[in-house]
Amino acid sequence: MNIHAYERLWVAGSMVLIVGFIATITYGAVGLGITMVDDGEEPLAPDEIDEDERFGEPRVEEVGDDEYEVYVVSATFFFQPDPIEIPAESEVTFYVTSRDVIHSFTVVGTNTNTMVIPGEVSAMTVEFDEPGEYGIVCNEYCGAGHHDMEGELIVLDPEEFEERQEENDDDVDAIEVFDHRTATAGNGELP
Ligand code: CUA
Repeated sequence: MNIHAYERLWVAGSMVLIVGFIATITYGAVGLGITMVDDGEEPLAPDEIDEDERFGEPRVEEVGDDEYEVYVVSATFFFQPDPIEIPAESEVTFYVTSRDVIHSFTVVGTNTNTMVIPGEVSAMTVEFDEPGEYGIVCNEYCGAGHHDMEGELIVLDPEEFEERQEENDDDVDAIEVFDHRTATAGNGELP
């Protein structure tokens, strides 16, 4: 069978396009490390966030040598904690959930970006090489205050971060001493 040279050219061109499309989709799905929010993390009911041991107290927690976990709660129209302070050169895993509607947790100028779904926990592990300050924004339309929904991520020099932690620990000690004394006074044990 005789196929015209132009027709061969078109067939070859179409093949190249099809392979190109498949390669692009595969790269987008696998190569960039983009994943969907899945049920890999223990889900939680939005109205039980305050009692949840992970999210009851949104915070940055040291879990190992240069390893941190950050528990973030998003809600209309803010993030907690705010600002979030983490050290550079450490492995930081953000766990983010929502109190009400779908939001996102997007660290401006980085590829740290996830959708946040009520009832689900989005997890992302990142490492910042340099200290710096980043805005956190919501890029899922979530209501009238969506455009005002922002937070701050402060990446500190590891030594400075350590110093800050120690200062905070001192503050906590001071509060405990105070509580103890008022509790004792409340028991009527002091004259
Ligand atoms: Cu939260 Cu938009």
